Amino acid sequence: PMKQRLLVVANRLPVSAVRKGEDSWSLEISAGGLVSALLGVKDVDAKWIGWAGVNVPDEVGQRALTRALAEKRCIPVFLDEDIVHQYYNGYCNNMLWPLFHYLGLPQEDRLATTRSFQSQFDAYKRANQMFADVVNAHYQEGDVVWCHDYHLMFLPKCLKEYNSKMKVGWFLHTPFPSSEIHRTLPSRSELLRSVLAADLVGFHTYDYARHFVSACTRILGLEGTPEGVEDQGRLTRVAAFPIGIDSDRFKRALELPAVKEHINELTQRFRGRKVMLGVDRLDMIKGIPQKILAFEKFLEENSAWRDKVVLLQIAVPTRTDVPEYQKLTSQVHEIVGRINGRFGTLTAVPIHHLDRSLDFHALCALYAVTDVALVTSLRDGMNLVSYEFVACQGQKKGVLILSEFAGAAQSLGAGALLVNPWNITEVAASIEYALNMSPDEREKRHRHNYAHVTTHTAQDWAETFVSELNDTVVEAQLRT
Ligand code: UDP
Ligand code: G6P
Repeated sequence: PMKQRLLVVANRLPVSAVRKGEDSWSLEISAGGLVSALLGVKDVDAKWIGWAGVNVPDEVGQRALTRALAEKRCIPVFLDEDIVHQYYNGYCNNMLWPLFHYLGLPQEDRLATTRSFQSQFDAYKRANQMFADVVNAHYQEGDVVWCHDYHLMFLPKCLKEYNSKMKVGWFLHTPFPSSEIHRTLPSRSELLRSVLAADLVGFHTYDYARHFVSACTRILGLEGTPEGVEDQGRLTRVAAFPIGIDSDRFKRALELPAVKEHINELTQRFRGRKVMLGVDRLDMIKGIPQKILAFEKFLEENSAWRDKVVLLQIAVPTRTDVPEYQKLTSQVHEIVGRINGRFGTLTAVPIHHLDRSLDFHALCALYAVTDVALVTSLRDGMNLVSYEFVACQGQKKGVLILSEFAGAAQSLGAGALLVNPWNITEVAASIEYALNMSPDEREKRHRHNYAHVTTHTAQDWAETFVSELNDTVVEAQLRT
């Protein structure tokens, strides 16, 4: 039988383009959990549709980029500067992203956002329509169309308007907040209704799915059932599909000579010190200032550890045109500078802070040499960094300190030390506990997490979602 074609639609393509000349482009792997997870899915006849992260105003450039992307099975959606400003920087990342993560904006930003809301929301809808146009142009009967994330909540509705027979799934990679939060969005009803046009709607955890269903019952007055949400006899199936990683890819990387060599180098460099690691996009949801303040508190209270531990914080730049992200960058730099000034010596500093991304192999080596990983998200859909760390710890069996507000706390909770990142006294105590943990306890905790990470893969996640989507459509046909 012919393999079913899958169209993956996400704002961010797995590769981002950098212009090298009038008609030449170089492609770099994009950062973030959505891209990592989908790159971990093999063996599907999938095409990607999305934005390459650059403005390409001229036709020569667009044609050349389209050709370059085609080799990666990617199809671009071209968004102009104004749309990017209003849809991506504005509505998506200054409005939906903080709200879905239960983060407020400072008062003056809130008011400004309230004022520009309508034009940003219009741009959001226009952008979603542009994605729909590209999908529609490439759609063939029988294809499965899988839409991703908060950027594209309007897409299911646009697609069904093109063709009510299209099989459409939508998956949210962030938390879905309590209906009490969603209620405050001026566009609350329109967003829910457009998502409900999909056949299947998926979330990382059962809680997020439950929040979504109760938003639909409370805000739209629809009926929630164990299967999903019903509107005049039509069911939108709603369920939890926890994402995973391709753990074998990490294990294989650790076997490469170049990576092994890198591991040796790092081990030499930090000899005599325990290595603590943070890997995050430089985003307010990651609780980076909280993490660093907790580390400071730990150093304050445990003077004997001061020259025996180092914190490596990789902070990948992200959404740098959004003012909140710029503020966060300078805030983090200030705190790191202060602490290094306070506890540093002429030969060593307690915190190594890197404002850049690492390539995959460098990242694997870092994960492998780490004694304690620190994930302090204030909220996080899942958090794949915690999974990747576990996958690379087969030898070392280090400790994972994990925020209870990350989706991953539900799957790695038994092996990790769970913390409330707002409570830096508690996080500091967990750091001390982790550094002093007996090998027996480390081994036991690691085994638990490792078993989870290696058996709940990105591949399973995608297969389960797509087959559930196919089943849902068949069941709906049987009902009518
Ligand atoms: N990552 C990356 N470049 C880096 C460091 C990390 O692409 O320099 C990846 C990391 O391996 C992980 C993803 O970014 O797969 C982050 O995913 P996570 O779910 O932890 O958070 P998100 O960024 O999606 O909020
Ligand atoms: C999160 C979102 C993704 C997004 C990624 C990187 O993981 O859920 O949709 O791609 O962050 O953010 P960016 O704005 O660079 O795409």
